[in-house]
Amino acid sequence: ARRPRVLSGIQPTADSFHLGNYLGALRQWVRMQDTHETFYCVVDLHAITVEQDPKVLRQRTRVSAAQLLAIGIDPQRSALFVQSHVPEHAQLSWVLECQTGFGEAGRMTQFKDKSAKQGSDRSSVGLFTYPILQAADILLYQADAVPVGEDQRQHLELTRDLAQRFNNRLGKTFVVPEPYIIKDTAKIYDLQDPTSKMSKSASTANGLVELLEDPKRSAKKIRSAVTDTGREVVFDAENKAGVSNLLTIYSALTERTIPDLEAAYEGKGYGDLKKDLGEAFVDWVTPIQDRVKSYLDDVTELDKVLAAGAERAREVASKTLAKTYQRIGF
Ligand code: ADP
Ligand code: NA
Repeated sequence: ARRPRVLSGIQPTADSFHLGNYLGALRQWVRMQDTHETFYCVVDLHAITVEQDPKVLRQRTRVSAAQLLAIGIDPQRSALFVQSHVPEHAQLSWVLECQTGFGEAGRMTQFKDKSAKQGSDRSSVGLFTYPILQAADILLYQADAVPVGEDQRQHLELTRDLAQRFNNRLGKTFVVPEPYIIKDTAKIYDLQDPTSKMSKSASTANGLVELLEDPKRSAKKIRSAVTDTGREVVFDAENKAGVSNLLTIYSALTERTIPDLEAAYEGKGYGDLKKDLGEAFVDWVTPIQDRVKSYLDDVTELDKVLAAGAERAREVASKTLAKTYQRIGF
């Protein structure tokens, strides 16, 4: 039987991915290559819903792709591509926009949150239609599954509604995708404020661990992570948020279970845990950084890999678009 197909994307809006991105999403991208037919894209069209400096965007797009390759996205097994290289995304998005109610789009809470922060004249229409572009991303590949966190559930619901509506009106065209809830996905918290999630926009510099920063700096941040005044290294998300966050990270990076780690640190203190985790992080990230550097040292080769990924993506995307256009009456 053919493997279920999955589509996922990440925005090139930071100079580096952070540990939350990796443990909460990207690590699963790597694993899904064993079980799914995988399409992964760097979503630069989504990035321009807020203003971007062209040079910075171009660089971050490459750096994002290099990081994906470095963590284990295999371009032989996955179609790894840049969204703007596949024009069908924008083309299908327009068709779907015309199938979406204005009020329906207006109910997307992420838009409401983001535009409330920016003010309605400063938020673009693209930010408003962002979830529809996301629907196009997914439906173009006839994806069976989409890995989703809580924050993306509403957008996936819209995607499903749009697919069903189109299929009902104009004939079966799109696979209606199911959410793929990943079991062992980790939510990573800010090292300085372990009750709020690690985030490029909301975390302070010392609360955020970036894949491409100096690993010594990361180790230092980990050693100065906020913990409670207790001593025992035990997982207790409610009362020991800081320690629990460190255990989650440690367990995810080393594949040792949390009970194993608790046992290993019995009789030791938080300082030992932080020091060891800092070292484990450095050991883990150093070869990744080396690989990122070698991809970025040969941009021509990197661009070739991405061009091949786009070609592979277009084989599927162009078929879906052609069928859609035919249904529409084009
Ligand atoms: P940020 O929150 O830093 O802006 P994004 O929203 O771009 O990150 O998230 C990209 C991906 O990384 C999403 O799949 C998101 O769910 C995941 N992610 C981001 N931060 C975390 C976190 N702290 N813990 C787990 N997953 C996260
Ligand atoms: Na975010």
